[in-house]
Amino acid sequence: MSQSRGQWSGKLGFILAAAGSAVGLGNLWKFPYITYENNGGAFVLVYIAAIALVGLPIMMAETLIGRRTQLNAVGAFNKLGGKLWTPVGFLGVLAGFVILSYYSVVAGWTLRYIVMAISGELGNMAAVPQELDTFFGDYTANGTQQIIGLFLFMTFTTTAVIFGVKRGIERVSKILMPILLLILASLAIYATTTAGFEKAMHFLFHPDFSTLTRGAVLEAMGHAFFTLSLGMGCILTYGSYMRKTDSIPKAALQITLLDTLVAILACVVMFSIIFSNPDMQISKSAGILFTTLPTVFVKMPGGNFIMTMFYFLVAFAALTSTISLLEVISSYSIDELKWSRKRAALTVAFSVFIFGSLNALSLGANSKLSSFNLFGKETTVGMFGTMDYLASNWLLPVGGLLIALFTGWFLSVRENRIELEEGHGELPAFPVWLFLIRFVAPIAVGAIVVSVILGAEYQ
Ligand code: PHE
Repeated sequence: MSQSRGQWSGKLGFILAAAGSAVGLGNLWKFPYITYENNGGAFVLVYIAAIALVGLPIMMAETLIGRRTQLNAVGAFNKLGGKLWTPVGFLGVLAGFVILSYYSVVAGWTLRYIVMAISGELGNMAAVPQELDTFFGDYTANGTQQIIGLFLFMTFTTTAVIFGVKRGIERVSKILMPILLLILASLAIYATTTAGFEKAMHFLFHPDFSTLTRGAVLEAMGHAFFTLSLGMGCILTYGSYMRKTDSIPKAALQITLLDTLVAILACVVMFSIIFSNPDMQISKSAGILFTTLPTVFVKMPGGNFIMTMFYFLVAFAALTSTISLLEVISSYSIDELKWSRKRAALTVAFSVFIFGSLNALSLGANSKLSSFNLFGKETTVGMFGTMDYLASNWLLPVGGLLIALFTGWFLSVRENRIELEEGHGELPAFPVWLFLIRFVAPIAVGAIVVSVILGAEYQ
């Protein structure tokens, strides 16, 4: 074990860093939006089932591969699987690059919103119907502004990665995650006092299965990957810095629970606030976070303060996720290309920034990049939409499927058991995990992949 590779200081370091990776825009931006689109209740249940039956076992699988090899995604697959499996690692590095290139653009928006919330500008704008919509449209279409946001966010991310595993990533997660949970808990307590709380609870926790579509089930499963940072070697890389004395099953369970809790609490907060205002029109996708919420925040006592806290929450969550994305690619460059950590982080970040600028510039209607559409779908218009679709529907599910097959069928059952029990003690649930990773996960994820292939053909 090479000491220079870096290691978490203990089990809390791994748990908070991995939870920091998992908790992000997926929880606070995407999950509330798809829950709304898919009518709450039943969708939430399916999502929880997907997390438990597919997400958790794959998280354990990734962590065990990482810790067993003490290597980055590419090196780990190469070491255990040889030439044939090495592309799975490269697929992960590619996914990291693609996701980081558009994720940091949205993350950059939060910085602008924090500044505007503090100065009161956001409150003023949100008070006048339509004004915030117009602002958001103009802001996202403004190439210079978008590039500034991307640049700033990448700078914060890169700084943390340069400081390394313990002094950078772990330290940032240990500071930001508790603050994040505190802000979210306060907002949740506040939500219980709002008029819309009961309606929000009903919407989220009274399943009506007649509203559940096949598409919703697939979407819940696909999102399970994205939200837990699975299918691309991110948890694998973080697992490679884990100590042999810590328990993988316990850590994976805690990370999964924390991520699910944050996603559900975010929904409780947002829907309570939104349903408090009966004639509220909920906008879609990015809108819910950046245009709908502020207009409701301003109508509340202490609205400007709540707004400021809220955007800090989103920015912190996004930062610990972008750090993990950059670390996947940097870790590969450090281990395999023998670059120094500083050189790796800076070079990768610079390339992501250049490529990400294309996404940043693709959001205005006048931009040529906004009509680019590789997949020819309504939802994949523009560079930005194309990259999101590529990652969420292709790279992560295919990566997840291969990781499940590799761990379940290629690696030896005995070695898997040894690694999962190392630092944990006897694991009576091992056969359950084996069954999930061998059958349930591949079939469920395979269904996503097949439907994406069919869907793409029928378009
Ligand atoms: N899990 C993060 C989120 O929910 C996104 C992410 C995906 C981060 C893949 C790392 C790897 O926002």
